[in-house]
Amino acid sequence: MKTTISKLNEHVGQTVKIGAWLNNKRSSGKIQFLQLRDGTGFVQGVAVKKEVSEETWETAKGLTQESSVYVTGVVREDDRSQTGVELTVTDVELIHQAVDYPITPKEHGTEFLMDNRHLWLRSKRQHAVMRVRNEIIRATYEFFNDNGFVKIDPPILTGSSAEGTTDLFHTKYFDEDAYLSQSGQLYMEAAAMAFGRVFSFGPTFRAEKSKTRRHLIEFWMIEPEMAFVEHEESLEIQENYVSYIVQSVLNNCKTELQTLDRDVSKLEKIQAPFPRISYDEAIDLLKEKGFDDIEWGEDFGAPHETAIAESFDKPVFITNYPKDIKAFYMKPHPERDEVVLCADLIAPEGYGEIIGGSQRIDDLELMKQRYEEHNLTDEAYKWYLELRQYGSVPHSGFGLGLERTVAWLSGVEHVRETIPFPRLLNRLYP
Ligand code: 4AD
Ligand code: MG
Repeated sequence: MKTTISKLNEHVGQTVKIGAWLNNKRSSGKIQFLQLRDGTGFVQGVAVKKEVSEETWETAKGLTQESSVYVTGVVREDDRSQTGVELTVTDVELIHQAVDYPITPKEHGTEFLMDNRHLWLRSKRQHAVMRVRNEIIRATYEFFNDNGFVKIDPPILTGSSAEGTTDLFHTKYFDEDAYLSQSGQLYMEAAAMAFGRVFSFGPTFRAEKSKTRRHLIEFWMIEPEMAFVEHEESLEIQENYVSYIVQSVLNNCKTELQTLDRDVSKLEKIQAPFPRISYDEAIDLLKEKGFDDIEWGEDFGAPHETAIAESFDKPVFITNYPKDIKAFYMKPHPERDEVVLCADLIAPEGYGEIIGGSQRIDDLELMKQRYEEHNLTDEAYKWYLELRQYGSVPHSGFGLGLERTVAWLSGVEHVRETIPFPRLLNRLYP
C-alpha cells in the first residue's frame, strides 16, 4: 500500500511503500540504517542483510545522500523514534542517484547555506521552521474565518505609500510611476467599509537598508481591519489572535518544536490577556534599566524593545506613541493631542515588534489637515480621503509580521530562516 511517512503510524504491522529521499545513512556491515524523508516527515528504514534480497542490499548500499527511492517495508512500533515507528525494509527501488550533494551533515557557514537555499530547505531544521510557518498561516485563516472576517486581497502594485516614502520600491507601470506595496492597509480600510471585518495575507516590500536579524526586504503580513472597533477592542482581538496561533503551533507542531529544541514552557504561558504599558511608562522603564540617553519623542530600536520585553513573560503592548514618530493616519488620543491611539506588540525573548496597529482617523477635516502636513497632495491619495466622506465610522486595524512571528515561535535567531527564499539587503538569489 502506498502511503507517506506522516501516516506510517496508522499502518503498524502492515507492508507499505513510500517515495522518499535518502537524508543520511549508517551501516554496520550487516545492517544499514537509512534516514528517509518524503516532505511529510522523517523515518528510519532498517535493511538487514540476511533478510533482504542481494539486489535490495546492493541498491541500499550504493545510495548516496539525496538519492530518490521507492522503499517497501513493514511498519514497526519503535519508542526511540520521534514519530514512534520505523520501517523494516524489504525492497529498495532507485529512482534517481544524486551525485555530490553539497550540503553534508558537517557544519557549513551561513553564506554557503544561503547560496544553497534551494537545497538547504530539505534539511530537518529548515523543514521544521517551514512547517511552523505553515501552521501559523493555517491557524490565521481559521481564527479570522471563525470570527466573522472576510479575506480581501489588496493590490501589490500601487500608486501610493502607506508607511512613508523613504523605503519604497519604485517601478514603472507603463508610463506611470508605481510602487510595490509596503502595506495593504489603506485598501483594507476601504474593504472594511464594504465588509465590516476583513483581513489580508500577502507579501509586502520595504527597501530598508537595515541589515539586522529582524529585517527582510520582502516579508509577509497579516492585516486585519475592523469597522466599528476602537483602539481597546482592537488590542483584545490582537491578543486573542496571537494566543490562538501560539496554542495552535504548540498543539500541531510538537515534532517540529522538538526538532528545533524550542523551550515550549515559554510558549505555554502565551495566553490572553497581554500586559499593556504606555510609551511614557516605557521611557521610564528604559531609564530605570540604564538607557540614560533616551528622550521622550524618540523611537525605540531593537535594544530598547529587547530590554522592555525582558520585564514580561508574555508579549507586551506599548501604547500611545508620540504622533510625530508614527504614520499620518493614526487617530490622536482624545485627551492628549501629542500622542496617538496606537500600539506595537513586542514579543518576549528579544524577537522584537511583531505587530504594529492603531485606530485610524475617521474625521474628514482632521485627515485633510494631516494630508497637508504630510504633503499628500497626490491624486493617488484622493480615494482614501473619500472613505471619510461617505459614512465614516470609527475603525482600527493592525499588521502582524509573519516572519518575526515564525522566528519567535520556532526560536530561530534570524528571520532569513523563516521564509523559503529570503530577500535581504545583498541577496536576490536563489
Ligand atoms: O509596523 P508596520 O510598519 O505597520 C504597518 O505596515 C501597518 N500599516 C499595519 C496595519 O496597521 N495594517 O509593520 C507591521 C509589522 C511589524 O510589526 C513587523 O512585525 C513587520 O510588519 N515588519 C517587518 N518584518 C520583517 N522585515 C521588515 N523589514 C519588516 N517591517 C515590518
Ligand atoms: Mg511598526
